[in-house]
Amino acid sequence: VPLHLPWIDAIRRLKRERGAVVMAHSYQSPEIFHGVADVTGDSLALAQAAAECDAEVVVLCGVHFMAESAKILAPKVKVLIPDPQAGCSLADSISAADVRALRRRFPGRPVVAYVNTSAEVKAESDICCTSANAVRVVESLGVDEVIFLPDRHLGAHVASRTGVRLHLWDGRCEVHETFTRAEAVHARERFDARLVVHPECPQEVLEVADFVGSTSAMGEWIAREQPARVALVTECSLADNLRLRFPDTEFIKPCNLCPHMKRITLPRIHACLRDLAPEVQVPEDVAARARLALERMLDVGR
Ligand code: 13P
Ligand code: SF4
Repeated sequence: VPLHLPWIDAIRRLKRERGAVVMAHSYQSPEIFHGVADVTGDSLALAQAAAECDAEVVVLCGVHFMAESAKILAPKVKVLIPDPQAGCSLADSISAADVRALRRRFPGRPVVAYVNTSAEVKAESDICCTSANAVRVVESLGVDEVIFLPDRHLGAHVASRTGVRLHLWDGRCEVHETFTRAEAVHARERFDARLVVHPECPQEVLEVADFVGSTSAMGEWIAREQPARVALVTECSLADNLRLRFPDTEFIKPCNLCPHMKRITLPRIHACLRDLAPEVQVPEDVAARARLALERMLDVGR
């Protein structure tokens, strides 16, 4: 922590000078999440904050699709990302041409795109969702069948919670797909912990969970249930960040690191505010169509 303090001080100073708001996803390291962020939360919380943002500059500490969504929802704001190479295996799994091919294969079915997609893919979709509102978004359409992309595990979870038939894409989160049921059950039995699981995990893991939800929903569940011990089956930083909020709960970490999220560091945030770069740009024709899909999602809410 002492090593971080000079960076945190310098970033806070630059933030004021630049009129900048720092937004950080739940998977950012604690020195970012607790040290320099003004807004924190899951993908939905970050999208909602961007849509309401009137700052001159936003620094999005998260992966590229999150910064793109912020830019699409706040087109007048200069949106910066400390490392534009921070990608996502889900977003990389599908292109706009793939979505057009799915529409030809399943004509007339609406396309629901998880926000873990590029702006071009969102532009080809009818409505977006996050892990926090995927069930509500699918139900809001009032149809029997939808095309749901790209996360096959989240899709299977939504299918199990709704009466809707989902045509899935074979995308996977490289961080969550490797968790196994045996690993999750071991954490519960060895540590007598409640099991809280992100819906990007395989179905066999979701089946043994006490709670399945987005990164913000996991925090709300802990606030409600106040478990003595909880095992968070997700990215490692979430437990580190929640530990400070819930000192009476012991956190077990059957966790994996997301290498993309971890590209964001204090020195890179500092350089980003100093140079006002790299800036995220989305061509307006793509942004206009993607905005419709994102705004429909925001209308459904959490
Ligand atoms: P949340 O929307 O739950 O924060 O998840 C985003 C993500 O990338 C999970 O891997
Ligand atoms: Fe993408 Fe998975 Fe990393 Fe989330 S944790 S950003 S879904 S690779």
